[in-house]
Amino acid sequence: MNHFELKGGELACEDVPLSTIADAVGTPVYVYSSATLVRHFTVLRDALIGAGLKDPLVAFAVKSNPNVAVIRTLAQAGAGADVVSEGEIRRALAAGVPASRIVFSGVGKSDGEIEFALQAGVAEINLESEPELDLVDAVGRRLGRRATVAIRVNPDVEAGGHAKISTGKAESKFGVSLAEAERLYAKASNLPGVRPVGVACHIGSQITDLAPLEAAFVKMRALVERLRAEGLSVERLDLGGGLGAPYFNTPTPPEPADYAAMIARTMAGLSGVQLAFEPGRMIAANAGVLVTKVQHVHARPEGRKFLVLDAAMNDLLRPAMYDAFHDIRPVAPRPGEPIVYDVVGPICETGDTFTRDRTLPPLQTGDLVAFMTAGAYGAAMSSEYNSRLLVPEVLVKGDRFAVVRPRPTYDDMLAREANAPWLD
Ligand code: LLP
Repeated sequence: MNHFELKGGELACEDVPLSTIADAVGTPVYVYSSATLVRHFTVLRDALIGAGLKDPLVAFAVKSNPNVAVIRTLAQAGAGADVVSEGEIRRALAAGVPASRIVFSGVGKSDGEIEFALQAGVAEINLESEPELDLVDAVGRRLGRRATVAIRVNPDVEAGGHAKISTGKAESKFGVSLAEAERLYAKASNLPGVRPVGVACHIGSQITDLAPLEAAFVKMRALVERLRAEGLSVERLDLGGGLGAPYFNTPTPPEPADYAAMIARTMAGLSGVQLAFEPGRMIAANAGVLVTKVQHVHARPEGRKFLVLDAAMNDLLRPAMYDAFHDIRPVAPRPGEPIVYDVVGPICETGDTFTRDRTLPPLQTGDLVAFMTAGAYGAAMSSEYNSRLLVPEVLVKGDRFAVVRPRPTYDDMLAREANAPWLD
């Protein structure tokens, strides 16, 4: 469920018409619903608790939507943060997430990032390889601390909607095999700069079937039991993120309650382990839309009708990068026969095509349309390609809205650069 609905014939976010935001901030603009963010988080957490799981750590995957106000909204509802860089740790801390609820993942953390994480006191650093274990141990010893670590396991399970976002197969770059995890855990428990507390996995994103998740979780549970049988202490099991969001053209993702029941079943009888989760998309995707304006309707005499928008692939990369489908809705739908459009942005490459042959209500220059389900990996992946200004972000709560990332000016954009002295 989300809070983007037609009210008085116009698409609104909670109680604010999207046209009000477009008038105030201009387009393109991302708009997020606080109520939807909080609802998605609490539905998941309550489902996990309702299934009998004690004190789960639900760490929002900051990469999906790194806006500090978005993270703060979730932190105030009780979320932790799953982060993959020093920048994301800083965002989580700035948003008020306690370090004790921050999990640091990623395949190539630098010395500086590890040091920053240790100084901040993050709950857990997920290690992806033996060289990374050695590096964290070295940093820990240098700082006179034992870094709390988990070993990221690649359970060799196929999952995830698109090859570019599937992570759990043996050939992907993420984590170590189950056998390696046992060896590294034992090694880590003898190193002075680290303290292994658990194991972690994440097998992909936009997963719409519980079966691969269950297959991975069964393997992870067995691993915890093997480690314990070797006399090693395991306090945390991080089950990653990956649950899909409904994009309207894909299979419907599982309900949080069914996901929670599957976990309760696969973990039944396993005591003394805190479960951690790293959901991004399922919390943020349907909590955001990208509002954009129709720049032109270019009807070729030969037939094709191009809807040229003022948003482009630099604002919403997912269609160009993953052939992703986003529902497109007119903000104020006009009556009339639906029309088949190719929906494109103004950037100078054919990849800047959001979709082809999409049947939409009739649209005219100046009309607003919204890309739905754009709250995750939307603004997060935006850039200034073609020297277009970074897209702004607005957060709505009830009948109020706030610009939580303003659109920069062209002066801001140019001021970030410097001349080379020999060019003077
Ligand atoms: N944990 C780890 C270690 C991850 O790598 C990811 C996502 C997550 C959690 C969150 O996964 P989620 O719950 O959001 O599925 N840019 C792509 C998605 C990339 C996902 C990368 N890892 C897209 O737009 O579809």
